[in-house]
Amino acid sequence: MKIALVGATGNVAGRALAQLVQAGAQTVALVRHPEKLPESLRARVHVEQGDLEDGAFVVRATRGADALLWLTPTTFSAADFRAYTLGLARNAAQALQQNGIQRVVFVSSHGADRSGLGQVSFAGEVEKILEAVAPHTVSLRSAGFMENLFASVGTLKQGQLFTLLPPDKKYPLVATRDVGDVAARWLRDSTWTGHHLRGVHGPEDLSAQDLADILGRVLGRPVRCQQVPQDSVRDAFLERGASPSVADGYFHMFRSFAHKDYQPTEPRTAETTTPTTFETFVRESLSPRLQ
Ligand SMILES: NC(=O)c1ccc[n+]([C@@H]2O[C@H](COP(=O)([O-])OP(=O)(O)OC[C@H]3O[C@@H](n4cnc5c(N)ncnc54)[C@H](OP(=O)(O)O)[C@@H]3O)[C@@H](O)[C@H]2O)c1
Repeated sequence: MKIALVGATGNVAGRALAQLVQAGAQTVALVRHPEKLPESLRARVHVEQGDLEDGAFVVRATRGADALLWLTPTTFSAADFRAYTLGLARNAAQALQQNGIQRVVFVSSHGADRSGLGQVSFAGEVEKILEAVAPHTVSLRSAGFMENLFASVGTLKQGQLFTLLPPDKKYPLVATRDVGDVAARWLRDSTWTGHHLRGVHGPEDLSAQDLADILGRVLGRPVRCQQVPQDSVRDAFLERGASPSVADGYFHMFRSFAHKDYQPTEPRTAETTTPTTFETFVRESLSPRLQ
């Protein structure tokens, strides 16, 4: 069984690739920059170098694959965020069809079933594109990633956690290694059939105030949680170099997530609950960046 992965120099697919290699699976990684793959993996993975925006490359690189891990790589530069996302998905669809690939695991998001949530809603459209061409698909409707806090290292060092969400409202939150582990399990299993939607929720729902409290406890110094106005999202993303379309996508996503009635559609169950706690993430991954 041959498993193709995109995004393997990134968070989720990087972890999935490492798990698959460790389990002895035959893998092919579609990457732009092979040198970013860990040295321990490079010799044990078939690497295809190219860009997912190049449809012919995606078809060529996935030839002979039985399963595909697909995700929309994070972008700041897309001039039209939706067109970029759907254009890549159509390249995936073409490869799935031409190569007769049977199984797709897609890294999606909670909220993907709704409209008006920027890139989260685009992920819902990608789910449908993939379901239309592959007989067996699972869309992992993931919680927000703990790794998003890496973008806040500067303010966290000053003891501030800024949030766009209501500070007391609890949301699922997951470490990307858990999402990668779930993806790897689906990719290795060739017995499931049909189309599935699965939540991936981390161990517990947490509010921004909970995060600040845990950060303060682990770091041994106070961290103050402060809500910032929704309208500041666009400017914050533009300042960080995002295109207007990408900044808009984040604005719509946060505005919907912040609504008092917003809840992920997929309920938390034993299956959607994954092990890595926020405390573990802070100790192992975040606090070394805060020294
Ligand atoms: N952040 C969240 O809270 C959250 C929650 C739920 C779902 N998600 C979904 O998770 C996905 C992102 O997953 P992730 O964090 O694992 O991704 P990531 O870390 O951003 O990794 C994506 C990888 O793709 C590569 N890449 C970028 N553009 C490419 C291109 N045109 N062709 C080929 N490779 C390209 C990048 O490597 P190079 O630059 O080296 O090429 C990068 O390492 C998104 O679709 C997002 O919607 C995110």
